[in-house]
Amino acid sequence: MSEPRTERSETSPADTGGGPVFSVRSLWKVFGAKASRIPGDSSLTGLSQAELREKTGCTAAVRDVSFDVHKGEVFVVMGLSGSGKSTLVRCLTRLIEPTSGEIILDGEDVVGMDKEQLREVRRHRAAMVFQNFGLLPHRSVIDNVAYGLEIQGMGKEERRAKAATMVEKVGLEGLGERRPGQLSGGQQQRVGLARALAVDPEVLLFDEPFSALDPLIRRDMQEEVIRLHREEGRTMVFITHDLSEALRLGDRIALMRDGQIVQLGTPEEIVANPADDYVRDFVRDVPREQVISVRRAMRPVDADAPEATTGTELAPDTLVSDAIETVARSGEHCRVVENGRTVGIVDYAALLTVVARLDENGDAGEGTEREVATV
Ligand SMILES: Nc1ncnc2c1ncn2[C@@H]1O[C@H](COP(=O)(O)OP(=O)(O)O)[C@@H](O)[C@H]1O
Ligand SMILES: [Mg+2]
Repeated sequence: MSEPRTERSETSPADTGGGPVFSVRSLWKVFGAKASRIPGDSSLTGLSQAELREKTGCTAAVRDVSFDVHKGEVFVVMGLSGSGKSTLVRCLTRLIEPTSGEIILDGEDVVGMDKEQLREVRRHRAAMVFQNFGLLPHRSVIDNVAYGLEIQGMGKEERRAKAATMVEKVGLEGLGERRPGQLSGGQQQRVGLARALAVDPEVLLFDEPFSALDPLIRRDMQEEVIRLHREEGRTMVFITHDLSEALRLGDRIALMRDGQIVQLGTPEEIVANPADDYVRDFVRDVPREQVISVRRAMRPVDADAPEATTGTELAPDTLVSDAIETVARSGEHCRVVENGRTVGIVDYAALLTVVARLDENGDAGEGTEREVATV
C-alpha cells in the first residue's frame, strides 16, 4: 500500500551523490534463546510481537528493516518507546550484534568486520552521542572532548588544541577547565556533542540525546544540530520519540513500530501522505501548513493561461503557511514557478484545503497528487 510513497522518498534533497553512508538490508535483531532461527522461519516471521513472545519467548526488536542513509542527510528514526530505535542504531556499529541481515558502511561490510576493524569504525567513522551524555566525571571538559583523540593516540598538545576548538564550536567557550558536574544538562550534552565531533566522523549517531533536557534547552540543542549540519553537512542518524523534533531535524524520517519501518519519507511526505492509519494517527496534530509545500497545494495551470502571468511568484518548496501570508498581503493568487516556468496556481481556497485537511478524506487530495504528478 505504501510502496510508491516509499520509492518517491529515495531521493533526498541533501544527497550529494556517491553511494550511501549506511546501507542496511533485511536487518533483524531478536533477543532470546535460539534467536537466530527466527528470521529464516516463515511460520514465525509473520507473527505479531506478542504472538512471537508467546510462542518462542523471544523479542524481535528489529524486524526485517532496510534503508539507506545518504551522504549529508539527517536521517531520523522515530517511534514510540520500545519500537526498536536504540537496538537499530546500536546494530549499525555492532554495539549490539545483529541476528541477521546486511550492514554496509561506505561500501564495507560491517557484519564481517573483526574486533579491530569495529573499534576503528566506532572511534573514527561513526561517533555516538548518548542520552545520558556518557561523560567522565573527573575529567575537565577539554579532556572529555579530547578523550576520543587520546584513544586514537594523538599527542597531548595537539588533542587539547583540537578539543578547545570543538568546545568553542558548540558554544562552551570559557568552560573548558570545568568538570561535567559543574555544568547544566544542556551544557553537558554540548560536551557530548563536541566529543563526538572531535574525531571528525563520517557519520554522527544520536540516540535520543535531548530527551533528558528541559524543553527550552532542548530547542537550543536542536538549533545547534541544525546549525552544525548546515555548516558542515555532516551525515547524521538521529533517534527520537518526539514527532516535532523529528519533523524539525529530519531530511527523511523512518517511522518505526514494533521493530518495523512502517513509513520512510520526507517530513512532508509523511504528513501529507501517511502510509496507514497508524501513521495518520501519529501525525494528526501536526500543523500541516508548516510542513506541506505549495507543490502539493497548487492546481496546475497552462503556462500561457492569463492567470499564469499574474500574481506573486513562489518557489515550489514554499511552505503553505508562508504562502498564506503572501496571498493575504497581495490579495490575489500566487503562481508557483519552477525553472522560470509557471507550473501551478495557489489561492486561498487551495491553501486552506491543506490547513483544514479537506484533502484527507475527500477527492481533492488525491486529485492534486495525480495532477501534480503529470506536470
Ligand atoms: N537486551 C535486551 N534483551 C531483551 N529484550 C530487549 C533488550 N533490549 C531491548 N529489548 C526489547 O526490544 C524492544 C526494543 O527496545 P529498544 O530498542 O530499546 O526500543 P526504543 O529504543 O525504541 O525504546 C523492546 O521490546 C525491549 O524491551
Ligand atoms: Mg531507546
